[in-house]
Amino acid sequence: MTERVAHLIHTIRAYYEGLAIADAAVKREVDHMLSSTEMLDPVAPSGNRVNAGAVKHLPAALDATRKGPGRAVADAIAAAQDDLLWYYGYAPRPGERDLSQDIAFCEILGPTTGSFRSADTRLGFTLIGPRMHYPAHSHPAAELYHLLAGSSTWIKAGEPSRKTPGDFIFHPSGVSHAMETDDASLLSIYSWSGDIISRSTYLA
Ligand SMILES: [Fe+2]
Repeated sequence: MTERVAHLIHTIRAYYEGLAIADAAVKREVDHMLSSTEMLDPVAPSGNRVNAGAVKHLPAALDATRKGPGRAVADAIAAAQDDLLWYYGYAPRPGERDLSQDIAFCEILGPTTGSFRSADTRLGFTLIGPRMHYPAHSHPAAELYHLLAGSSTWIKAGEPSRKTPGDFIFHPSGVSHAMETDDASLLSIYSWSGDIISRSTYLA
């Protein structure tokens, strides 16, 4: 039922439209996402509906989101949960921990994934379990995160900073970034612009 995912996108739009955004780069990315979601172009559901193991962290992350500014987004995610696919898209790394049990992404709008098609924007969610390190990675796309749940440390170009729910984090094209969670799961909205086709890759 794409209607529930459409409602989720409309909920994110209304949430962002209600925020006062002073940062120019953040505003530019938000405006780009809003322009890409004015008209929604549904795609046929994929046959693959197996969620990554990290989806086990979603209920706690939604509970935490409901305590912050993104309450309506949490409710819309919960309502659409049966229509969402949480996946871990990186290739396995021999000798490294299987991060698919604690990190997952859910794309709701994009060029080939999600419920709605866009040629120039990706929109989705990042979910990371407690006490995790999402290793340094980069991608050609510019990326905007909006943290919904999980105070955490975000490392951009080697510089750590603390973020709390309600914060935006902007990653320009090609900049290295990593995240470390505290004792709670992290849930964030993400959007990509620019080269949204080239994939994200780990840097080490
Ligand atoms: Fe990223």
